[in-house]
Amino acid sequence: MNPVGTNLEEIMDRYPGEPEYLIFLLQDIQSSYGYISPESMQRVCDRTGVPLTRAYSVATFYQSFRLDPKGEHEIKVCLGTACHLKGGQRLVDELERRLHVEAGGTTEDMRFTLNTVNCLGACAISPVMVVDDEYHPSMSVKKMDRELKRLRHEGEKEVGNV
Ligand code: FES
Repeated sequence: MNPVGTNLEEIMDRYPGEPEYLIFLLQDIQSSYGYISPESMQRVCDRTGVPLTRAYSVATFYQSFRLDPKGEHEIKVCLGTACHLKGGQRLVDELERRLHVEAGGTTEDMRFTLNTVNCLGACAISPVMVVDDEYHPSMSVKKMDRELKRLRHEGEKEVGNV
C-alpha cells in the first residue's frame, strides 16, 4: 500500500501526465513528505511515462532530492577545505559515534539525519555545523555536545507535553 495515500494523488493532479513534468512532481512530493519514497517514484513514472531508471537518475543528479526519510533534525557538518583544516572531520566522527549513524544516514528513532556538505560559503567562521538551517560557527566537540544535548532535551520536553 502506498503510505502517502490520497495526498499523493492530489499532487499527481496538479500537472499533466507528460514526461516534462517529472521534476515538478518530484519537487512537490519532496516538499510535502521530505523525501521521495519508492512508491511515490513509481507513481510519478506511471503518471508521466518516464522510465523508473531515468527518474532515479534525475533524482540522484539533483542534491535537493532525498530518496529516504529525513530525521526530525538535520545536522550538516561542512567538510570544505577551511572547515576540514579546522577539525570538521573530527566533528563528523564524533557525531557518528554519538548518534550511532554514518554520515548520510538517519538514526533509527528518526530524530537525527547527519550529512556532510562542501563549503557553505562561511569559511570565516569555520568549522561550521548547521542544525535545521541554523548556522553554528567555530564549532568544537564541546559546543557540538551542548547542541546535541539541547536537541535531545527539546525532544523529551515535547514527549512530556503530550
Ligand atoms: S569550507 Fe566550510 S564554510 Fe567554507
